[in-house]
Amino acid sequence: MTIGVALFGATGSIGESTLSVIDAHPERFHLEVVSAHRSIETLVRIIERFQPKHVILTDQSEANALLEQLPKEFNGSLAFGEHSLAEAASASEVDVVMAAIVGGAGLVSTYAAVRAGKRVCVANKEALVMGGELMMAEARANGAILLPIDSEHNAMFQCLPESYTVGQSIPGLKQLVLTCSGGPFREWSINAMTDATPDEAVAHPNWSMGRKISVDSATLMNKGLELIEATHLFHVPETSVDVVIHPESTVHSLVEFVDGSMLAQLGSPDMRIPIAHALGFPERLDINVERVSLTKLSKLHFEPVNHAMFPALALARQASAEGGDRPIVLNAANEIAVDAFLKQQIGFTEITELVFDCLNQSARQPISSIDDVLAVDKMSRQTAEIWIMERV
Ligand SMILES: NC(=O)c1ccc[n+]([C@@H]2O[C@H](COP(=O)([O-])OP(=O)(O)OC[C@H]3O[C@@H](n4cnc5c(N)ncnc54)[C@H](OP(=O)(O)O)[C@@H]3O)[C@@H](O)[C@H]2O)c1
Repeated sequence: MTIGVALFGATGSIGESTLSVIDAHPERFHLEVVSAHRSIETLVRIIERFQPKHVILTDQSEANALLEQLPKEFNGSLAFGEHSLAEAASASEVDVVMAAIVGGAGLVSTYAAVRAGKRVCVANKEALVMGGELMMAEARANGAILLPIDSEHNAMFQCLPESYTVGQSIPGLKQLVLTCSGGPFREWSINAMTDATPDEAVAHPNWSMGRKISVDSATLMNKGLELIEATHLFHVPETSVDVVIHPESTVHSLVEFVDGSMLAQLGSPDMRIPIAHALGFPERLDINVERVSLTKLSKLHFEPVNHAMFPALALARQASAEGGDRPIVLNAANEIAVDAFLKQQIGFTEITELVFDCLNQSARQPISSIDDVLAVDKMSRQTAEIWIMERV
């Protein structure tokens, strides 16, 4: 019997890397479910290659478009909508859910997988940023096993004893150290960054990723989201998470213990490494990736973050410290801002300005359920959209 994988966000960058790992190990995995949003052509190629049993699209119109192109050999089911993702997440044939939808759109399906007590590989960091406390409580209550896919959190997890379960406190921990490449604008001036174009912002120096996370990496909001993610996954306050710039992206993160020991995980900047680690855990999967050559690494650099240039990280840290609805507002405003920047409606530095203003403008709301999370998310998106309309 092979392991049944549900791959949500199959047509994206993490989706592609996950398919590559599955393809390398057909004796271990089969694709039970795939989901996509708009990339029908890519989805058709995935169906032809992997013959998943269930295919889920966001909207009926996309599902209809796919119906016309479905390969003849496909004899699985086709469904659409968030409820279908939630249903698929809890199906008995699904052993592992790879949560790789980008943004808040992944919240409901990731949450459903956690509630179903599955092994959940969490790439969709925004879901944890928005609903981290609820998600971790559901994981504990339902026995779900969360495995981090973000290379930084996966690195930290790899530095912990095998007996460690995500969500528990870490015995003897001094601090977690998140490394950050600094993005494409690390050496730019603020003035130059003001006029940065979407193409310049998505040109990450080390990683090839989807457009949203690439822009987040350029503003350093990605590191802010990762900081919040780390507080939930490793059950620490934000004060226990440091961030350092490491332009080579070779040390993927570190864990420092009270006795002065620091453990780090190194590897090429290739997402197949954390994906293979999580899919295979606790075993190691042999995958064909570029190896780190220690003799070729002349020097590794570490430097502090320039907060004046990149204020998004401090905003996220503050949202994490304040908790409640703040991370939800931060995430929603950021998603709308990044989208507007990619559509050239606002400038690069306005992304963080917009997030700052939305956080200041919104009255705090109590959060005790996923419906509360979704309500704050919706309201914050509206506030952000009004900000943009008034600006353009
Ligand atoms: N890429 C990386 O190296 C990397 C590293 C660490 C963490 N992550 C995290 O992994 C997640 C995915 O990132 P990515 O870079 O793979 O993004 P991506 O390349 O943009 O792919 C996003 C995926 O989500 C689907 N999607 C988009 N909007 C959706 C919606 N409204 N409803 C349902 N599905 C939707 C897309 O479908 P269509 O293509 O069909 O539109 C696609 O399959 C993000 O949370 C990101 O922060 C990514």
